[in-house]
Amino acid sequence: MASTILVGTQWGDEGKGKVTDLISGEYDVVCRCQGGANAGHTVMANGHKFGLHQIPSGVMYDGVVPVIGNGCIVDPSVVLEEFATLDAQGVSYDNLKISGNAHIVMPYHKDLDGANERRLGKNLIGTTRRGVGPCYSDKAARIGLRMQDMLDEKIFRQKLECALLEKNPILEKIYELPGYTVDQICETYLPYAERLRPYIIESSRFLNECIDEGKNILFEGSQATMLDIDFGTYPFVTSSNCTAGGAITGSGVGPKHVDRVLGIAKAYLTRVGSGPFPTELPQGDEIGELLCETGHEYGVTTGRKRRCGWYDAVIVNYAARVNGLTDLAVTKLDVLGCLDTIKVCIAYDVDGVRYTTVPEHQSLFYDAKPVYIELPGWKCDISNVRSYTELPREAKDYIDLIERLSGVRVSIIAVGPDREQTINRHWN
Ligand code: IMP
Repeated sequence: MASTILVGTQWGDEGKGKVTDLISGEYDVVCRCQGGANAGHTVMANGHKFGLHQIPSGVMYDGVVPVIGNGCIVDPSVVLEEFATLDAQGVSYDNLKISGNAHIVMPYHKDLDGANERRLGKNLIGTTRRGVGPCYSDKAARIGLRMQDMLDEKIFRQKLECALLEKNPILEKIYELPGYTVDQICETYLPYAERLRPYIIESSRFLNECIDEGKNILFEGSQATMLDIDFGTYPFVTSSNCTAGGAITGSGVGPKHVDRVLGIAKAYLTRVGSGPFPTELPQGDEIGELLCETGHEYGVTTGRKRRCGWYDAVIVNYAARVNGLTDLAVTKLDVLGCLDTIKVCIAYDVDGVRYTTVPEHQSLFYDAKPVYIELPGWKCDISNVRSYTELPREAKDYIDLIERLSGVRVSIIAVGPDREQTINRHWN
């Protein structure tokens, strides 16, 4: 098995955690390259389900090295909470590596995330309030603090003082929130540094040495194409590049070492937070509620109910283009088994003009009316099916349509939450 980038093709929550969990064992290293504690992957250990937000789900496999790459942002308090959870489950994280170049989420980032959302009022982005936007803003503004800074108290204090000169007036004067002193933050963060010191490394060098030794890497994407800061529905996006390019800059591994780009697409569509969603079913719609309940569409990080809608082939086709997908994994196909007929959006109509790709101009996307085709449902439980040939004809037709409209082969089909509830069609 060769090195692979795994990305979400929609608005997140496509089931990346399940697919990562499924294929992690085929890799030597699983590396996260962007995002922070805004991500939420459900994993299973000893029959218990729990969520991981910072630590790559590869930690669940013996012999797989989990890496938090330089493109990630790290909330040390969340990492330590996850250590405690993993300890309780008897899962070892001795192998974990954290990039010294990853930026640290500071307490003022979380305050500012919340304050900014309150300021936006009804135009709020609907962030996870984990400090993601403010932390990445500081990275770009070159006043961020990195994991390596925590390892040297003098440098940490100097950089923090410089950051607080800007942050305190914003917190106090604009948002009427209390500011911070250097000592106050050091009191919490310096002990974090001591706990995390053994895990902090030069991750790009480590990853490239692994490649030189013939090892394979899974680059585990968080969030998704339509939440990407460049290619998503800006400004209703996250603050990192969640498309395949983010795996390169967020790891320091060159693109020549990547062999496959696996896109994850849910068999229908969900979104949390604000922003346009052409195929969204109206609030209270019977089918929308059915999808939400059957698919357990509640956020792992925030517990928010997800907005539900029909599969949008236009955005998956767009994701195929901007990520250079080689394979697709279609998840939650079983959930559609409750429907008589299933709609698929094959194009948008914007004021009489037909679009088969996502229009770049945001006002066109806001006005996009889905053009649907309707397919017969299979009306049965497929959660025990393990081979493509055994799927009902209607389900096969649905997968064939997804394949045709995306131009990418469907290699994996998930028919339930458990690892074995999977159809391996072309993977391996
Ligand atoms: P932020 O990443 O917390 O700044 O949130 C920005 C937008 O991305 C909001 O609409 C969030 O709901 C969404 N978002 C962030 N992380 C995830 C995720 O892991 N799954 C789904 N949506 C996410």
